[in-house]
Amino acid sequence: MKKYYMAGNWKMHKTVSESVAMAEELKKVLAACPEKLLVAPAFTSLQAVATVLKGSNILLGAQNMGPEETGAHTGEVSVLMLKDLGVKAVILGHSERRHSYFENDELVNKKLLLALKHGLEPILCIGETLLERDSGKLEEVISRQLKDGLKNVKKPDLKQVTIAYEPVWAIGTGKTATPMDADAVHLYIRKLLAEMYSPEHSKAMCIQYGGSVKPENTRELMSMPNIDGALIGGASLNADSFVSIAMFRS
Ligand code: PGA
Repeated sequence: MKKYYMAGNWKMHKTVSESVAMAEELKKVLAACPEKLLVAPAFTSLQAVATVLKGSNILLGAQNMGPEETGAHTGEVSVLMLKDLGVKAVILGHSERRHSYFENDELVNKKLLLALKHGLEPILCIGETLLERDSGKLEEVISRQLKDGLKNVKKPDLKQVTIAYEPVWAIGTGKTATPMDADAVHLYIRKLLAEMYSPEHSKAMCIQYGGSVKPENTRELMSMPNIDGALIGGASLNADSFVSIAMFRS
């Protein structure tokens, strides 16, 4: 049976105590959830949430990381520091990092290779803006972000990587890509992965959809053949809605 990968990105929300309360609730309610689960709190809450989630079926993720292991990089957080806290996965190339903080594909790729080197599972976010979609550049953008993001990733390491397709126009806007539209892009990503690696690697790849995923649209999105999970922002901030999404099969 297919196991979906449901990841909550808490973005710049929740104090330490709020994060702990949420993690405690999720740990209790989702103990029997059959899916792969992850929450990515703010850096400041990672340690406290790690303590709560220890031994549970919910993995701990970070929302970003610095491109170097150590050194004079004011304001950055190193992969070594994340690992030390028990972080297992890291979201990279999120559109908010790309568009508000000008992270380019080269930087995202550098971080991704560093995460893999240290055994963290990267979630590589890719997606087009509305302008790019409307001007016929969807495939060009997806292809560039995927190929440049995965540059120098070798076949054996690919299984550690998750791709999150997040159309920028659907993030936090309440606009979801239709399940058919999302699946068409997921299929295109699989086609590219088959060319870059092999059909087997492409088939085995986990491709999440992200962008206004909520309890009401999860089942339909997950029923599409090429959608393997979700990266959830707004709806992951509330325990009830994240639980409904994670338990969509029940
Ligand atoms: P959203 O965010 O679910 O609030 O649209 C998704 C994301 O940014 O990962």
